[in-house]
Amino acid sequence: MMSKEVVVSGIRPTGFLHLGNYFGAMRNYVRMQDDYDCYFFVADQHSLTTHPDTTALRNSVLRVLAENIACGLDPDKVALYVQSDVPETAELYLYLNMLAYKGELEKTVTFKEKVRLQPDNVNAGLLTYPVLMSADILIQRAVKVPVGKDQEQHLEMARNFADRFNNRYTEVFPLPQPFNFGNTLTKILSLDGNGKMSKSENQMATIYLADEDEMIRKKIMKAKTDSGPVEANAVKPGYIENLFTLMNITSDTATISKFEQDFNTCIIRYGDMKKQLAEDMIRFITPIREKANDIQNDQAYLDKIMKQGAAKARARASETLRLVRKAMRFS
Ligand code: TRP
Repeated sequence: MMSKEVVVSGIRPTGFLHLGNYFGAMRNYVRMQDDYDCYFFVADQHSLTTHPDTTALRNSVLRVLAENIACGLDPDKVALYVQSDVPETAELYLYLNMLAYKGELEKTVTFKEKVRLQPDNVNAGLLTYPVLMSADILIQRAVKVPVGKDQEQHLEMARNFADRFNNRYTEVFPLPQPFNFGNTLTKILSLDGNGKMSKSENQMATIYLADEDEMIRKKIMKAKTDSGPVEANAVKPGYIENLFTLMNITSDTATISKFEQDFNTCIIRYGDMKKQLAEDMIRFITPIREKANDIQNDQAYLDKIMKQGAAKARARASETLRLVRKAMRFS
C-alpha cells in the first residue's frame, strides 16, 4: 500500500467556532481525514504572542477540541493534539531561527499588523511567529497544509526555511505546499452584510456553533435584507445571496427552490424566509452544540484524546528530530 501524504494544520484556540470556520476549515479537515495522514493541533503556544495570560487558555483549548470532534473529526483517524504537548517542535524552532533573517521576519504582513495592534508588546515571539509555524509543519515533514489566504505568506516562509536547511545540511524536509480546496469552499458572510463572518467583528452578525436556539433565531431575524427585488430574475445583493447560501447548507431542496422562485418573481417575503432559515439552522446546529457540550464535560475522554494525539505526533516528530540532529552532526 502506498503511504498517505502527510498533512498538518494548526487551529487557533480562540474559543467558540462559527459557521465561517465550519465551512472555511473544519468541514475540509473532515473530508481529508480518510485520504491523508492528518496531524491537526491546537496552537496554544502561538497564542502567547498576543495573549500572555494563560488563565482562560486551557478551557479554550478543550472547547476547540470538543467542537472539532463534534463536527466530525475522528481522533482515531487523525492525530488530534495540543501544540504544547509536542516539545520536539521547540527544538526545531530553535534551529530554524538561525536560518530566518530579521529582515524577512520584519517584512511579514501579519507581523506589521500586530505591531500596529499591540505597539506595547512587540515581543520576539511575535517576530518569529512564522518560524514556530514552520516548525509545526516541518516537524511532521508535511507535504500539504490546508490554510486560508492570510496564512500563505507564512507557508512560503516555511518552504524557504526548509530549503535553506536542506541546502546547508542534508535533505530532510519536503517543501510543504498549500492545500487548495478551490471552488469547493463555501464563503459565509457576516449577517450584517459587512465582509466575512468573523468573531472579532459584530458578534450579533456571527453564528456560533455554541449558540442556543433562541440566539440563532434572534441573529437570523436581524440579518440585513431590503425591500425586495423590483425586476424579475434580478442579481442578488451579497447579503441576500448569503441568506440563500445559508439555506443551501441547512434547508431541503423544496424549500430552497420555493424561495428562489419567490425571489425571481419578486414576491419574496424576507421575514418568512428568515423564519424558515432560523428553524433549519437550529436543526443543523443543535446536534453539534450538544455533542460539543457533552465532550467538553467529559474530561476523562478529552484527556485520553489529547494523550493519544500527542503520542502519535511525538512519534513522528522525534524521528524528524533524529534526522535533523544527524544532518547537523549533533548526534
Ligand atoms: N497561524 C495559523 C493561524 O493563525 C495557525 C497555525 C499555527 C498553523 N501553526 C500552524 C496553521 C501550522 C497551519 C500549520 O490560523
